[in-house]
Amino acid sequence: MAQATRPAGFYRHHDGHRDALVCDGVPLAEIAAAEGTPLYVYSAATLRERYQAIDAAFQGYPHALHYALKANSTLAIARLLRDLGSSVDANSVWEIEVARTAGFTPSQIVFTGVGKTPEELESAVALGVKAINVESAGELARLEAIGARLGRAVRVAIRINPDIDARSHPKISTGLKINKFGVPLDEARQLLQTLEARRFLTLVAIHVHVGSQITSLDPLRRAAALAANVSADLQQQGFPLEYVDVGGGLGVSYDGGEVPSAADYVAAIVDAVRHTSLPIVLEPGRSIAAPAGALVARVIDVKARTAESEFIIIDAGMTELMRPALYGAFHRIEPVSAAAAGDRHYEIVGPVCESSDVVGRDRMLPVLQPGDIVAIRDAGAYGSAMASNYNRRPLPAEVLVDNGTWRVIKRRQTVADQLSLET
Ligand SMILES: Cc1ncc(COP(=O)(O)O)c(C=O)c1O
Repeated sequence: MAQATRPAGFYRHHDGHRDALVCDGVPLAEIAAAEGTPLYVYSAATLRERYQAIDAAFQGYPHALHYALKANSTLAIARLLRDLGSSVDANSVWEIEVARTAGFTPSQIVFTGVGKTPEELESAVALGVKAINVESAGELARLEAIGARLGRAVRVAIRINPDIDARSHPKISTGLKINKFGVPLDEARQLLQTLEARRFLTLVAIHVHVGSQITSLDPLRRAAALAANVSADLQQQGFPLEYVDVGGGLGVSYDGGEVPSAADYVAAIVDAVRHTSLPIVLEPGRSIAAPAGALVARVIDVKARTAESEFIIIDAGMTELMRPALYGAFHRIEPVSAAAAGDRHYEIVGPVCESSDVVGRDRMLPVLQPGDIVAIRDAGAYGSAMASNYNRRPLPAEVLVDNGTWRVIKRRQTVADQLSLET
């Protein structure tokens, strides 16, 4: 008999007087009771849905999705995406190591990063990754020297800096000339002309990435068009390019506001690149992983703040989810289980010894008491991946829920784990 499919993703389940936040069929309260808090919970169904929506939107146009591991490189998530047919974008030699452990082949890995060390370059060349996305003339020269020493041509893509304003948060915009990323367009055009004569370098693509959490298509479309136009010029000169890499960057709706759909996003990219007839490489991270994760935390304390509002102190903060403290990022916060009636004005803060450790400012929420569990939504990307041990706080456990069952995919770190590195 076929197994009943449960509703996918995060949703509230109302059952008589009870109301619970559920992930892929499992109440979050159940997982928190078993595993403790703070805890990341991921929905396998949402990861699949988000990946497949982008993949399907290409409608047969040749492409490869290189999931950006920086968004979330927990091994089980990388493996789940590999099983869907994904490739990866790695941002360090250590992410490459995770990718290899997750089963990705070298030809499924592109290697990006503004400061790759000589050792990182050497190991990526030795491995034979699909491409090293080159960020400067100096890096290109270093790669050429490695290629010459090893007696083989290194596969490179040149990351151009298109001087395009992504109109995202300044701290995650990467496409302006004043940003540290890529080779400015004029310089890139000159650099590209030198490549024909450099036999230890093989130019396979032009790469561009103008930022993250981009919520309007225009900068993404313009960046893709520029990369495509530079590629078309190179094709005319006889460079046998293999693809155009247009990076990642599609935003998600953290606050319920409109963001472009995967279909509109991909249509805009394909439109911009089609005239080259080249396959498209896309490096989405946030748009796949963010909505698939929630950070589950427990209320430790409630205390007065102003005449009208109170502090809710929870057991997760900037150490588990750095985005609010780092960027002033907004994440929805909601009680996991049936909440008492009535709204209160709260400032939701973490336990870390920093006044910037505010998880949710200025929120109206049902009355919360110590011991209540809350979920910080859309925390699947740049959440656990950016977590730290500040205040000696152990990295949280991570759980993957899949069609009504769940399992720990990363155990909670202990202080003993931390101390095992120290003398
Ligand atoms: C080169 C590169 N590719 C892809 C990504 C993934 O971006 P996003 O998570 O916004 O899709 C990033 C992150 O900023 C990046 O730097």
